Amino acid sequence: MVESKTRSDIHSAAERLKAGKCVAMPTETVYGLAARFDSHEGIASIFRLKERPSFDPLIVHIESSEQVRLLAEVWSKAADSLAKAFWPGPLTLVVPKRSVVSSMITSGLETVGIRMPKHPLALELIRAAGAPLAAPSANRFGRTSPTTADHVRIEFPVEVAAGEIMVLDGGESLVGVESTVCLVEETEIKILRPGGITIEELRRHFEKNQDPDLRDIQVGEVENHKASPGHTKHHYETKKPLIVSWGPPLDKTRPTYTIEGREIATSRIHELKLSDEPALAARMLYGALREADTKENTDALFIHRDLARHNGGLWVAIDDRLKRASRLQLETKR
Ligand code: TXA
Ligand code: MG
Repeated sequence: MVESKTRSDIHSAAERLKAGKCVAMPTETVYGLAARFDSHEGIASIFRLKERPSFDPLIVHIESSEQVRLLAEVWSKAADSLAKAFWPGPLTLVVPKRSVVSSMITSGLETVGIRMPKHPLALELIRAAGAPLAAPSANRFGRTSPTTADHVRIEFPVEVAAGEIMVLDGGESLVGVESTVCLVEETEIKILRPGGITIEELRRHFEKNQDPDLRDIQVGEVENHKASPGHTKHHYETKKPLIVSWGPPLDKTRPTYTIEGREIATSRIHELKLSDEPALAARMLYGALREADTKENTDALFIHRDLARHNGGLWVAIDDRLKRASRLQLETKR
C-alpha cells in the first residue's frame, strides 16, 4: 500500500511531468531523471540538466506491456519472451522504434531502448503521468549514478532547491547497478551494457525455452561504440581518482602511486572493500564510492577485485562500472 503522503507526491510529480517538467524517479537499479517521452520540453531539459551530449540515447520506461505498442515498430517473439521473463526488472530491450519516439530520445538511431522498472513508485508514476517516461540515470553526465534520493539532491542542489527537479523519494535502489541493455536481433541478443540481469540468466532463458524457435537464439556481448553510443570508456566517475586492481592488492609499503602522471601518497589513498556477496556489492557500490569521495585526508580511492573468488554473474556489471570509473587500472580486466 502506498501511503497518502507518497500518493500526493506521486500526484504532484505526475502533474509536473504533464506540464513538461522533470522528476527524479526511484527505480530498482538507480534513480532516473524522467520526463514524458512525448514532451519536447521535458526531454530537452533532461539533456540540459545532465549536461548530456546529444549522441547518448535515453531509455523509455513503461508500466504495462501494452505500452510497448506505443513505442516499438517491431516486437519480435524473442523480445516478447524476454519481457515476459524479466519485466518488471533491470533489462532494457533495444528494438526498432515507432516514429512517435523522437530522434532526440534515440540520438538519431532507428531503435529505442524500453524497460519496465521494478519499483512500485516508478510504476505508479508512469501510470499517473499518462505516458511512458524517458529517463537516464539522475547524475551529471559521466558521473556516479544515484541510488538514493539524497544522492540526487546532492547531485543537483541548485536545480532541486529552485524546484526545477522534483525528487520522488523511493528509498534505496535495491539492485544498485543499471539495467542490462540488449539489442534484440532475429537470431541473436547482443548485450550492449552488462547490468542487473546476468548473461547466464539470459542464456538459460533461451537454452531451456519451450519454444523451439527461441532455443537457438544466441546471447553475446558486444563492445561497439556505435551500437551503444552512451556507454563511453570514461563513465560513472568519482571526483577523486579511483584505482582498481584486478591483480595485486594495495601495497602500503610503496610510498606513492602515479595516476595520470600525478604522484599520490599511498597514505592518502582510501581503500574500499566490496561485499563478497555480488548482489550486496552491486547494491552498495555507488553509495560507497560517493561516500569515499567525500572523505577528508584522501586524495584517491582504491578497490581490489579478487577475480579468483568473484567472477561471472553480477560481477560482470560491477567490473564494467569499475573499469569505466577508474583512472588507473592494475592488471586490466579483459
Ligand atoms: O537501469 C537503468 O537502465 C537506468 C534506470 C534509470 O532505468 N537508466 C540508465 O540510463 O542507466 P542511462 O541513460 O544512464 O544509460 C542508458 C544506456 C546508455 O548506455 C545508452 O547508450 C543505451 O542505454 N541506450 C539507450 N537507447 C539505446 C538505443 N536505442 N540503442 C543503443 N543503446 C541505447
Ligand atoms: Mg547513466
